Amino acid sequence: MKIGICQFAPVFGEIEKNLTLIERMISSESGVDLWILPELCTTGYLFVSADEASSLAEEFPAGRTARCIVELSADLNTSIVLGVAEKLGTKTYNSAVVFTNGNFVGTYRKIHLFFDEKRWFSPGFEAPKIFQIGDVKIGVMICFDWIFPETARSLALGGAQIIAHPANLVLPFCQDAMVTRSLENGIFTATVNRIGTETRPTKTLTFTGKSQIVDPLGKRLEILPSDSPKVAVIEIDPGKALDKNFNPMNHLFNDRKPELYRL
Ligand code: ACM
Repeated sequence: MKIGICQFAPVFGEIEKNLTLIERMISSESGVDLWILPELCTTGYLFVSADEASSLAEEFPAGRTARCIVELSADLNTSIVLGVAEKLGTKTYNSAVVFTNGNFVGTYRKIHLFFDEKRWFSPGFEAPKIFQIGDVKIGVMICFDWIFPETARSLALGGAQIIAHPANLVLPFCQDAMVTRSLENGIFTATVNRIGTETRPTKTLTFTGKSQIVDPLGKRLEILPSDSPKVAVIEIDPGKALDKNFNPMNHLFNDRKPELYRL
């Protein structure tokens, strides 16, 4: 299975421009089975208010972005996971949406909102989701979900072989933490982070790139630069994530002692 990661600097508020950029970048490679793109990659990140986030949010699969990605995933014969601002009823969510071969598959709504995101979005209300793509199970989590190891564990216990992890990181800790998330769960993780600086009336933020793919033994198979737009494609064997034996005497799941943990 070939996984493509694509990091770039979305232009704030310019959905159409960002869709064009996404199309151009991921069309540059052929034969990719699964593309993963950053968090909020169609809208940009630094909203000034909940009203502004809501005004840029779209319905899935009814809106313009969904129609565009349906077409793109059909043209490229691929699956795509991307971070978006989602409108659902009267609420706005920081979501990741999944498409495969011209079809909308589903939505994960970020559970653990980071800092000002609590002003702009409602938190996700459902358990972290696993999507079946062909014969592979893909778990999805978004950015700050990383700091709660329960998120990745829950996906791994649910059978996820690969975690698709769209991100908009401004701190340096996540990429290293995801090495551990891969190792402790025996899964592949693909953290796809945006780059660039966003300056809005209230604040400026610089995002840290370094998108990466990590294998079930915690080995980085790829890490991109901190500051340039780039795609990378890595071939993996998702079957490697099915074996949870850490050594002949230890099993990552069966050796847990949930009855002794304070949950
Ligand atoms: C983050 O969750 N965007 C840091």
